[in-house]
Amino acid sequence: MPPDSLEDIYRRRRSTRWQDRLRRLLAPPAPLVMNPAEPKDFPLGRWNLYLGGAGSRPAGYVNLDLFPLPGVDVAADAEQLPFRGNLFQRVECDAVLEHVRRPEQVMAEIERVLAPGGYLHVVTPFCHPFHEYPKDYRRYTLDGLKELAGGFEPIAEGWRTGPTATLLVFAIEYAKLLLPWRAWRGLVHGVLGWLLFPLRYLDLLLLRAPRAGRIGNHCYLWLRKPGG
Ligand SMILES: C[S@@+](CC[C@H](N)C(=O)[O-])C[C@H]1O[C@@H](n2cnc3c(N)ncnc32)[C@H](O)[C@@H]1O
Repeated sequence: MPPDSLEDIYRRRRSTRWQDRLRRLLAPPAPLVMNPAEPKDFPLGRWNLYLGGAGSRPAGYVNLDLFPLPGVDVAADAEQLPFRGNLFQRVECDAVLEHVRRPEQVMAEIERVLAPGGYLHVVTPFCHPFHEYPKDYRRYTLDGLKELAGGFEPIAEGWRTGPTATLLVFAIEYAKLLLPWRAWRGLVHGVLGWLLFPLRYLDLLLLRAPRAGRIGNHCYLWLRKPGG
């Protein structure tokens, strides 16, 4: 059976069909916790840009995605942003750079549309299973991300999700690999997800350790465009 299209994935998240509601009700909690030390309070301006937010409606942002799916304000490729320069006070780029063909071009476009003194928040996976939205090209270390962000001033960096999240998402994917039938994979995903999710709280401890990033799940950078 072919993998679900992005349209199917996002439609099921909001659908009111009873099968989809039941699926959402039975779905286990995500096997991760967010690092409480990650800063979040950089100012929003009059215009702010959210990249890759299909299926959600991020308040206060213009939501741009490759596809005209629910929640999307502008359907366009982040490699060619259809906005004038210096427009946005803040750009959010969460779990998108691994899916674009030319991340350097996306960063150049973000730098162009961000106002001097504006903030960019980038989040990328480091240890995470293959996931196509609609493609999956790469992973990043914090060093790799900083290299990509050459023109910006680094403000803060760290790990959003930690080593336990990595172990849990890979354990669940591994178990699913052993099963040839989609319905069984769905069942195992649900059962293992419910059994394992309490372990996610170990990351609240582990994320304080400097070595957490050796097998961290997602890392983040806060950056500022010089000037302003
Ligand atoms: C993994 S999802 C991230 C969703 C959201 N930021 C989150 O963390 O839940 C990646 C999103 O980026 C979008 N995307 C992929 N390539 C893109 C591109 N070149 N330009 C704009 N959006 C893109 C996908 O359509 C998808 O909605």
